[in-house]
Amino acid sequence: MLDRVLGMFSQDIAIDLGTANTLVHMRGKGVVLDEPSVVAITKGNNRKVVAVGHEAKEMLGKTPGNIEAIRPMREGVIADFAVTEAMLKYFIRKANRRNHLIRSRLVISIPAGITDVETKAVREAAMSAGVREVLLIEQPMAAAVGAGLPVLDARGSMIIDIGGGTTDIAVISLGGLVTYRTLKVAGDKLDEAIIQYVRRRHNILIGERTAESVKVKIGNVHVRCNTGHMELKGRDLISGVPKSIRITAADVREALGDTIQLMVEALRSVLERTPPELSADLAERGVVLVGGGAHLAGLDLVLREEAGIPVIVAEDPLLAVVNGVGMVLEDLERYRGLLF
Ligand SMILES: Nc1ncnc2c1ncn2[C@@H]1O[C@H](COP(=O)(O)OP(=O)(O)OP(=O)(O)O)[C@@H](O)[C@H]1O
Ligand SMILES: [Mg+2]
Repeated sequence: MLDRVLGMFSQDIAIDLGTANTLVHMRGKGVVLDEPSVVAITKGNNRKVVAVGHEAKEMLGKTPGNIEAIRPMREGVIADFAVTEAMLKYFIRKANRRNHLIRSRLVISIPAGITDVETKAVREAAMSAGVREVLLIEQPMAAAVGAGLPVLDARGSMIIDIGGGTTDIAVISLGGLVTYRTLKVAGDKLDEAIIQYVRRRHNILIGERTAESVKVKIGNVHVRCNTGHMELKGRDLISGVPKSIRITAADVREALGDTIQLMVEALRSVLERTPPELSADLAERGVVLVGGGAHLAGLDLVLREEAGIPVIVAEDPLLAVVNGVGMVLEDLERYRGLLF
């Protein structure tokens, strides 16, 4: 009785807690929040949260001495527990303004193959936000569900999720990960590669956000892509003054080449370890690309050429994981076997 009454006020939610972006799906409502995983916080012993999400991301690299903008998730896992906890609490409350969390359930995605300690950290951060029950699902599985792959069937489905911190590559059959690999090389490493390139070539120092905007605007990884050029500003390392340079599609391609090669090798290694019956399915049905990195021009072409299987970019790559956790939440009976 009490359970039923409390249940009426509860609001079940599903979360994609990502290195770059956090998205929240609310039962019956769909995606209600989509914000960068960034927190601006005061320095010192008594750390106070100044801003979270979009507002905090605007501050990255621009904060005065007493404030720092932190990305509490790194390489797919919680790097700063207290700040992640504060961020998760903030997002859950923001998404759930009118309802109470008492008795509510939370489905949250975690990277495949993370340690027990890391899993416990995610669970605790969620519990501290006031949720009753936390259900965990591996990220590649959530991504595959969200991309509409038949994960419960006895046939091979393959997913590549290129996020901010990690590239997850997995072959799925009968509701389980058959072979997978998590590479700590994804969007952030691509941004770093652009920073290094500009530094080497032009002796100019640029920030993370500028590098990301180059990647998003003219990023490409295949000679067939002509994504144009752009002007960007940074600090001249010799004179110390601000300076503008022009960077072209070919420059960006050169900058990103080595990092992309690491992803290609990881894909090959997963394919090599895949049982032959499933390989046959993959050769026919291909691999689906999700995560922000799936937007990178020409990535599908490179992967197709290098791995020899069809590559399909998902319809809404940035939403695949949150849609997946959302679908699981909406139909817990059906997907129960995917949770732990
Ligand atoms: N058009 C684009 N081209 C290339 N990269 C992009 C584009 N749009 C977004 N990205 C990159 O995608 C990344 C964010 O993707 P996503 O939201 O899937 O990551 P995440 O889920 O937060 O990270 P992770 O899954 O590793 O924890 C960022 O590195 C961002 O720069
Ligand atoms: Mg992700």
